[in-house]
Amino acid sequence: MMTRRGLLKTAAITGAVTGLGAIASSTVLNAEGKWEILEPATTNQTMVGVPFERHEKVRLGVIGVGGRGTGVLGNFLAVPGVEVKAVCDVVPARTARAAKMVEKAGQPRPTEYHAGDHDYENLCKRDDLDLIYIATPWIWHIRMALSSLENGHHTATEVPSARTIEDCWAIVNVSEKHRKHCMMFENCCYGQTELMVLRMCKAGLLGELTHGSGAYNHDLRALLFEDEGEGLWRRFEHLDRNGNLYPTHGLGPVANYLDCNRGDRFDYMVSMSSQSVGLQSWRAANLKPTDPKMKEVYHCGDQNNSLIKTAKGRLITVEHNVSEPHPYDRINLIAGTKGIFRDYPARLYIDGQKEGEQFVGLDAYKADFEHPLWSAQGDRARKSGGHGGMDYIMCWRVIQCMHEGLEPDFDVYDSAAWSVPAPLSEISIAKGSAPVKFPDFTRGNWHKPRQFAGV
Ligand SMILES: NC(=O)c1ccc[n+]([C@@H]2O[C@H](COP(=O)([O-])OP(=O)(O)OC[C@H]3O[C@@H](n4cnc5c(N)ncnc54)[C@H](O)[C@@H]3O)[C@@H](O)[C@H]2O)c1
Repeated sequence: MMTRRGLLKTAAITGAVTGLGAIASSTVLNAEGKWEILEPATTNQTMVGVPFERHEKVRLGVIGVGGRGTGVLGNFLAVPGVEVKAVCDVVPARTARAAKMVEKAGQPRPTEYHAGDHDYENLCKRDDLDLIYIATPWIWHIRMALSSLENGHHTATEVPSARTIEDCWAIVNVSEKHRKHCMMFENCCYGQTELMVLRMCKAGLLGELTHGSGAYNHDLRALLFEDEGEGLWRRFEHLDRNGNLYPTHGLGPVANYLDCNRGDRFDYMVSMSSQSVGLQSWRAANLKPTDPKMKEVYHCGDQNNSLIKTAKGRLITVEHNVSEPHPYDRINLIAGTKGIFRDYPARLYIDGQKEGEQFVGLDAYKADFEHPLWSAQGDRARKSGGHGGMDYIMCWRVIQCMHEGLEPDFDVYDSAAWSVPAPLSEISIAKGSAPVKFPDFTRGNWHKPRQFAGV
């Protein structure tokens, strides 16, 4: 007689050895040895292509005004036609700082919510908000997003929107049910380079696209051990999780180049992590032996490489490394039958170019491919700041879509598809780097061609 555990083990092994046959199923064995159903049989009406109602002014609520929330609040205050009505944080000094910023921008003082971990629910219950932006630790995003959607507000979360497969489905189901958008604010999609390269891809400069690569390689060791800001929560994600914890900055722009959810989609992935030594090593060199953080055990491998195959057969690689010395690098590579672009620094090679077989800078391409958002708003963006101006461009564009009643550039399906590689990578690694199928959050609507930022 085989025990249930034995059966699951056998199924997992069968899955691993039979390869593609095994991943045709809509279930996977998760890290806890339980089967997870990837595609629940709900058939709500899609949010693909649903435009915003027209808003003369966009009334904004902000939950979480730490480092990121405060920065993006500043960007929103610089965009015409935004009224900040409410701000929330568990630290009263932070809501006070945010309220002061709003007043300084010439608007009435917003209502402050700082009465504990769940006061955000009171902000969400307001009936005078059009958009709620959430910039809290990852573990809070899902509860706050669901509360916002259930109270009838368009919602924007920081990255990633959700940490588990179930939570990715939850935002899809609730966004569809309440007919409100749940966008993930993937600001890297609005970088000057990324939008220019998007236009090059659409114009066919690189030929038929075959592969792309993205990363979040950012030395966060000192920040992760701080006694403030992200040091208070982000390190804990490395305790029990092993995978690509932060895939969206690298993946979002590449997904756009490849029309994912707009003609193609992520099909399956495999993932592998190195051993985990970077944080331990930094800690040994920088903390006192008596520091309580010395007792923590980190399971997240320092370097994670994940490979994604798309339905059309393209290959995407996504890296994550925040635990070792590394100059900042999102890779941002896209290539096809006629050429290749790669970033850090930005360079391009087009087959047969007059410069011969070497990468060249983008200057010569700017006149033809600069994105209109940057031609029109670039000066304001650089002045407003936030990652070289892309944060302002993102806020400006979301508000433009809401003012003009356009459909948003990214929707709940992108939020889910760009967030889910984190839990899928954890599952793949727990299964010895076995392939794991992506849920189709669009329920078949990924075929529909759509534009991103008007391209
Ligand atoms: N897109 C980007 O470029 C970018 C950059 C940095 C951070 N982020 C993301 O932004 C989010 C916030 O990161 P951060 O750097 O601002 O962290 P942070 O720690 O500086 O800020 C988080 C804030 O949330 C508040 N908070 C925590 N629990 C709360 C609750 N229950 N109710 C209300 N407020 C609560 C904290 O008091 C803090 O002020 C994260 O998801 C992070 O991944 C994105």
